[in-house]
Amino acid sequence: MDGGHALLIICAPSSMNTFRGSFYLGLPEPDRMSAVQNESWGTRVGLILAMAGNAVGLGNFLRFPVQAVNNGGGAFIIPYLVCFLLMGIPLLWIEWSMGRFGGRNGNHSTPFILDTMTKRAFWKYFGVFGIFTNIAVAAYYCYIESWTMSYVWHSIVGTFDGLSQTQVAAFFTSYVDIGHSTTGIPYEAVVFYVLCLGLNTWILSRGLAGVEKAAKIGMPLLILFGVFLALRGLTLGTTGASEEVPTASAWDGLNFLWTPQFESLSNPKVWLAAAGQIFFTLSVGMGTIHCYAAYVKSKDDIALNAVSAGFTNEFVEVVLGSLIVIPIAAGYLGLDWVKENAGFGMAFQTMPFLFEKWGPFLSAMAGVMWFGLLFFAGITSSLAMGTPWMGFMRDEFGWGRIKGALSFGLIVLVLGLPTVIFFQEGVFDEYDYWAGTVALVVFALAETILFSWVFGIDRGWKELLSGSDLRVPTAYKFIIKYITPLLLLLVFLGALFTPQGNEWTAAFQSLFSGGGWTLDNSSIIKTIANAGLHEQLAAATDPAEMTRLQDRLFYTNFARVILTLTFAGLALLVYVAALRRIQNTTSTAA
Ligand code: PHE
Repeated sequence: MDGGHALLIICAPSSMNTFRGSFYLGLPEPDRMSAVQNESWGTRVGLILAMAGNAVGLGNFLRFPVQAVNNGGGAFIIPYLVCFLLMGIPLLWIEWSMGRFGGRNGNHSTPFILDTMTKRAFWKYFGVFGIFTNIAVAAYYCYIESWTMSYVWHSIVGTFDGLSQTQVAAFFTSYVDIGHSTTGIPYEAVVFYVLCLGLNTWILSRGLAGVEKAAKIGMPLLILFGVFLALRGLTLGTTGASEEVPTASAWDGLNFLWTPQFESLSNPKVWLAAAGQIFFTLSVGMGTIHCYAAYVKSKDDIALNAVSAGFTNEFVEVVLGSLIVIPIAAGYLGLDWVKENAGFGMAFQTMPFLFEKWGPFLSAMAGVMWFGLLFFAGITSSLAMGTPWMGFMRDEFGWGRIKGALSFGLIVLVLGLPTVIFFQEGVFDEYDYWAGTVALVVFALAETILFSWVFGIDRGWKELLSGSDLRVPTAYKFIIKYITPLLLLLVFLGALFTPQGNEWTAAFQSLFSGGGWTLDNSSIIKTIANAGLHEQLAAATDPAEMTRLQDRLFYTNFARVILTLTFAGLALLVYVAALRRIQNTTSTAA
């Protein structure tokens, strides 16, 4: 917890709840009613597409395959599916329930959604995560999204035609090296980043209707492009085998991913990775689902909608996500290459080269489809990230859509430019780690405890079932109350205290034999101390390498300062909003 945050919690007026006034009873004040309740989703299909668009993102196509390969392929799938059922689905239901409940009381972002669910004032500061995470993730997420725009362009104009594998990879390295880029347009990465943010801002300024429309266009196209490329992945077989790797086969990739391996079930490392992927891909623990669900009409179904959107995401991830990059790369370059090179650079550094093998026309088309698919996946998610901020500013400060969207675009620009300019110095990774990984788990744990134990599972369960078109298995009442929070706690502790080398059995043996517990540099605790970087610095002898590491250390801390200030700034806004609410209620009462 940062200093600002702690301070605000302490200073928050304790009398606040006494004055919560009418909206605690579910009756918003008249002026808030008119400001807040005039927006809701157009149609059920629109809502589900928007929610699915929120979840289906770059994570499905870039993060999932890499996580699966790095965690042993088939070894990953079982923990992944178990996490989906025991954490993913419960969190979806929790967040949809909280969201609709909040919306009914005139609240569209997590600080005051949480606030109305409890009598304690500090919960709303946990709710700050639900705005913060979105803004911070949007900052770097839109950067990747902007690459996809640029790569669609380069696929159309044939930039990659005739380039060797090394040259295609070098194109990317040059692209992100802003000052020395030779990709054609000066400062191309910045230009596309600004364009991409502009487009997001414009769509957001049209409100929910804009988001819904983007999903209605983007999602079907994404599926179409995905199915086309997946069919290619499925039918590539060994025919595409290159001269360099004559035995390469797309089936090797598929078998690797789909042959379950049961030994992995006892490996916490794989479980942690699986849980992390489930969070990211379903967009849970972020605050966007609460916000979208807050615009659902109060009698509408949420239980079935949540499951529909969740399963759509899983279909896109598990089926389409695993049928493109891995089999195609394995088909041409061999499974060993894939295992060694799995990283999200594959999508940008390798795919355009592999497409070339399909002839000039098909390769341009495949490029447009692949990067177009990524673009649609990305934008329907980044739009979602804008909505909690806009909802909050509208609820609390009466900001209209245009003001809300413009301010979001501007904040993301300011926060995002460091990720663009200092990409190689690690600012991007730092945002991804704290906002895109750690914050999700912290918030998910907090909201689950709130929902099941503070608000109360009985009330929560009733909320979920009201208006439901689905018979939710009662077992889930037990799961949501006990299993989900317990698993979340384990995930959090596992990340906090990751043992050296991620070797859990050895770590416990050592602990029980009195040898203590040695933390890995990837544990949250060691990461805070920058232990890994310090070790590398101490070992470095080459002056150039030392400068590089020192830069990295500097920019890592710089990124943390920005993130902390952002969080503190948002917490301050929540504090001010809370004061305003007290003033409003007292003046209405008087
Ligand atoms: N679920 C999105 C993805 O898979 C990412 C995302 C996170 C979107 C948070 C919205 C909010 O890429």
